[in-house]
Amino acid sequence: MNGSIQNPMLSKAGALVKHIKSQQIDRDEAKKSHPTFYRNLEEALDVRRGTQSLFSIVQSNWQTKNAVDFCSNDYLSWNTTGLIRTHFLDELSRYPDFSVAAGGSRVMEGNYPYIEETEAEIAAAHGAEAGLITSSAFDANVMVWTALPRPGDVIVYDALVHASTHEGMERSLAIRKTEFLHNDVDSFRETLLAIIDSQPLIKQGKRSIIVAVESIYSMEGDVCPLLDLVEIAEEVSHGHGNIQFVVDETHSTGLIGPKGYGLVCELGLEAEIAGQESIQILARTFFEALTSHPLWPSAQEKGLLSVPLAAGWEERPYLTHIVTVWPRQKYIYWLYLHLLSCSFFVLPVKQPIVPVGESRLRITFHAENTPAQVTALVEQIFTWMEEVMDIEQGKTQKKVTRAAGEVYVWMKQEGLRGFGMV
Ligand SMILES: Cc1ncc(COP(=O)(O)O)c(C=O)c1O
Repeated sequence: MNGSIQNPMLSKAGALVKHIKSQQIDRDEAKKSHPTFYRNLEEALDVRRGTQSLFSIVQSNWQTKNAVDFCSNDYLSWNTTGLIRTHFLDELSRYPDFSVAAGGSRVMEGNYPYIEETEAEIAAAHGAEAGLITSSAFDANVMVWTALPRPGDVIVYDALVHASTHEGMERSLAIRKTEFLHNDVDSFRETLLAIIDSQPLIKQGKRSIIVAVESIYSMEGDVCPLLDLVEIAEEVSHGHGNIQFVVDETHSTGLIGPKGYGLVCELGLEAEIAGQESIQILARTFFEALTSHPLWPSAQEKGLLSVPLAAGWEERPYLTHIVTVWPRQKYIYWLYLHLLSCSFFVLPVKQPIVPVGESRLRITFHAENTPAQVTALVEQIFTWMEEVMDIEQGKTQKKVTRAAGEVYVWMKQEGLRGFGMV
């Protein structure tokens, strides 16, 4: 790397440098003589590298404490504050005989009472008959969707459900899987009616429709209109009770509902929001600072920046901890790099996570974030926008905003490409 560049974002061991380098197509001629198996793998990886969409495993700036965490899923800051570690170690010392190795599959010889007690506690908290702990949320979705639908059943799913739900649905015995438009109650009703019309056994209540939704969608930050969906399901099933819901609460557990038990528990309790006031304050601070900023109207007029959840934010009973910011598509990295240069780490969300042309930056608020950090973040978004406006209006000779420009100088020197480079 050129020694004249002093930008801390570009430190050799840093995440940004590693990530940008990992996305470059390897043109090493020697690789052409590698065995077919490896060449084919490289070819597949190059397709991803070519669109900078290869998942690279790096340690992000917020993890190394070089940037404020507006990115992680540690929403309640239990990890960064050490709370979860303390409780984990306390629990271990309370149960000195606790086995940290399973010794086998649970369905064979690897079960033990502690897990069963924990599952029973979780189930009781959720008012459920039983609970099952899985290794990950991904596994849970694969298991549920592989196991629950019976031959003759139909799955109806929101267009934006997580990849793990799709994995599970692929393996299910359902005769059909039908998507409805994201969070769209009319589309949901039409989809159900069309299935009931075309499937006599479902109409007669002899087979079921199983609905896949999420309480909070992590790439949009919006909430499922679950109560409306349940009402529609009851109405169109005419008392058969053969439309059932599976609600993925990955992004609401701990955050909404009594004691943070999630949206399903929340709706059972008269729309009362429990705790998590600090995250509500942060979200409110964000929307207030954003929508009262003098440049906010021109941001939208010029199509430079949109924040879908800003519409009607004051009327919503609660605000989610996830907000997406959509700069004009070609500027995604310019804004990302600007915020990173100010030590704010937000997540760029792009293909293959979302479709091409729908890239966005995702901001997540955590218990440990402060209102001052949030207002500073909003201020920096507009500082960046002013730079873009100056460039677009020809008020400056510059072709690119400051932070992105610094990264692109280094990339040019290194012969690297992509990431919105001009
Ligand atoms: C809605 C949803 N379900 C399931 C998963 C899978 O979670 P995990 O990575 O913990 O297995 C995710 C991951 O982000 C998710 O967003």
